[in-house]
Amino acid sequence: MSVFSDRVARLRKERKLTQMELAEALEFSRQTVSNWEKGKIEPSVGVLLKIAEYFGITTDFLLGNEAYTTQYEGKYKQEGFYWGSKINRLAREVLRLIPPERPLRLLEVGCGEGQAAVFFARNGYHVTAFDIAASGLAKGRKLAKAAGVHVDFFQVDLLHHDLVNDYDVIYSTDVLEYVPPKKREQLLRSFRDHTTVGGLNVLDTFVEKSFIDVAPDWEHSKEFYWQTGELFSHYRENWKFELCEETIFDCDSGGMPHQHCMDMIIARRMT
Ligand SMILES: C[S@@+](CC[C@H](N)C(=O)[O-])C[C@H]1O[C@@H](n2cnc3c(N)ncnc32)[C@H](O)[C@@H]1O
Repeated sequence: MSVFSDRVARLRKERKLTQMELAEALEFSRQTVSNWEKGKIEPSVGVLLKIAEYFGITTDFLLGNEAYTTQYEGKYKQEGFYWGSKINRLAREVLRLIPPERPLRLLEVGCGEGQAAVFFARNGYHVTAFDIAASGLAKGRKLAKAAGVHVDFFQVDLLHHDLVNDYDVIYSTDVLEYVPPKKREQLLRSFRDHTTVGGLNVLDTFVEKSFIDVAPDWEHSKEFYWQTGELFSHYRENWKFELCEETIFDCDSGGMPHQHCMDMIIARRMT
């Protein structure tokens, strides 16, 4: 699927439109909209302009030349650190399980405001970190500068980014729920393939539970619950679990108390 297909489908769902409703608004057939979303036809420049005008976005955005951002773009622009200053338990586990006694490369996926990335850099890892929210990256760069460390921060949409290098650690917390079910196998395969032997994948994600309400700040058209055990099932054969856990915890992100169920893993590549 092209970036265009993905974005037109996401924009339509965000506005809660059916394919028929979008087709009528743009004066095309429902089949044409369906074909755009399936990547079966690429629109002409004129059609791109029409779609962009309708959604109030740019053609560059539709073509993927501008990043698709999240609610955090605005949140990270506020004073202070939206996620507080506490370092995640999984980050501490990385230090314990794979200490940087030799040069180790660590990739953080969806690094937010960069606190974990800077924590790793301060502890001696060579850190690369990306997020879609430019405002978070700007904070991360400042934090790294203040700490006197280097982190290679860059902005990219993880759904449209191919990993090139290999890493000793791929670390991502509270991000995988932004990956739609159909894209999970491909993304996690790329994490596995780009991990060195002996290296770690350190991941967590939110899991659906019938007895837990959807979080008040859930981004409905962008976030998708995982199923219990689904994350674990991507790590078999030559992977060993250093940690594999499901937990329920209280959260007050957005100032509204709620609960989450989370699956987390630390998996080590054995061969
Ligand atoms: C809940 S926050 C977690 C931030 C950080 N990992 C942490 O644990 O504090 C989710 C992060 O994922 C980022 N994100 C969501 N979708 C993304 C995408 N498609 N590509 C890159 N980053 C994305 C958001 O911008 C946000 O910073």
